[in-house]
Amino acid sequence: KFEGLALTPPMGWNSWNKFSCNVDEKLIKETADAMVSSGMKAAGYTYINIDDCWHGDRDSLGFIHPDAKRFPSGMKALADYIHSKGLKLGLYSDAGSQTCGGRPGSRGYEFQDALTYAKWGVDYLKYDWCNTEGLKAEGAYKTIMAALQKAGRPMVLSICEWGTDKPWIWGPAVGQLWRTSGDIFNCFDCVEDHGTWKSFGVMQIVDKQDGLRQYAGPGHWNDPDMLEIGNGKLTPGEDRAHFSMWAMLAAPLIAGNDLRNMDKETQSVLTNKEIISINQDSLGIQAFRYAKANGFETWFKPLSHGKWAVSFLNRSATGKKIAFNWQQEKIQDDVFNKTLNANTIIYQIKNAWTNKQLGTTKGSLKTEVPAHDVLTLILEPK
Ligand code: DGJ
Repeated sequence: KFEGLALTPPMGWNSWNKFSCNVDEKLIKETADAMVSSGMKAAGYTYINIDDCWHGDRDSLGFIHPDAKRFPSGMKALADYIHSKGLKLGLYSDAGSQTCGGRPGSRGYEFQDALTYAKWGVDYLKYDWCNTEGLKAEGAYKTIMAALQKAGRPMVLSICEWGTDKPWIWGPAVGQLWRTSGDIFNCFDCVEDHGTWKSFGVMQIVDKQDGLRQYAGPGHWNDPDMLEIGNGKLTPGEDRAHFSMWAMLAAPLIAGNDLRNMDKETQSVLTNKEIISINQDSLGIQAFRYAKANGFETWFKPLSHGKWAVSFLNRSATGKKIAFNWQQEKIQDDVFNKTLNANTIIYQIKNAWTNKQLGTTKGSLKTEVPAHDVLTLILEPK
């Protein structure tokens, strides 16, 4: 794979969660404009990723072309436009014969497609797993990575085989991120049964990250799927819980809403500086669940310079009171060998959502977390 890419979790936008198959160059250009004007670019978001359904047909020599009605100016021109804004372009393909949306897949055309993407100026490839009968995931992703390397333009490879073949084992050598589960569903706490497959609410996706943190780090990330913030189903508290947990999990932050029509609340969640700093911390350590009882969870994430992030996550339908005595807790990360001991170090506490100081770890933290909401803190050694 290309080394030196995605040393912190990639940040950007993807068309699928909001627009599914309805993509065209007008939407993509307007989204790039909105990425800049909304402050998303300044907050760190870089990739503009076109998901399924941009494809037209292959020509007589087998080269893929974008759908000429939807992308009349062509992909090169679109990539130039996106680059001119200081942003990067992501495209989507599929390891099988057809994409999930029934467009031409890359199977048998991997080297040709990689050449084409490189020529267009693509920076990121999400590679899906529909219609892959007879293929083995690891081999198929190695093939497309070999093709991208042959083409020579550095590209992030986003592995999207839904966690079926344990991509956390082989993915770190092949790509920069791998999906750990089926698709996210736009609800806080539910599972949507589609018959032959299921999709998962925000909290169910969080549960699926259990036991995977040792596989993540700079340049290789677990991907719990794209964000649903701003897509009209979650409350402000649920939006915060969703964003806090993706930050804690060192997950890619790929917005999935309409950036052109964002309300203030959505914009302020997606661009919260302190929460993003937890996600983008240079150590790249994924959080662990420290405690869990009655729909209330406590998560810890070691940060650089001896700092820690803490999230008190209330999944339940009622407000929960906390009385957290820092000095009586034993917070030990055995996987990454980090200890938070409030008896030997005093930490200054900051509420990451409000950027307000909350005293130190000398005393107890006494507060209440509303239903379906989160309290996220950053602890800094004094
Ligand atoms: C399945 C993937 O998991 C989704 O994220 C999306 O890319 C769709 N396929 C597109 O068809």
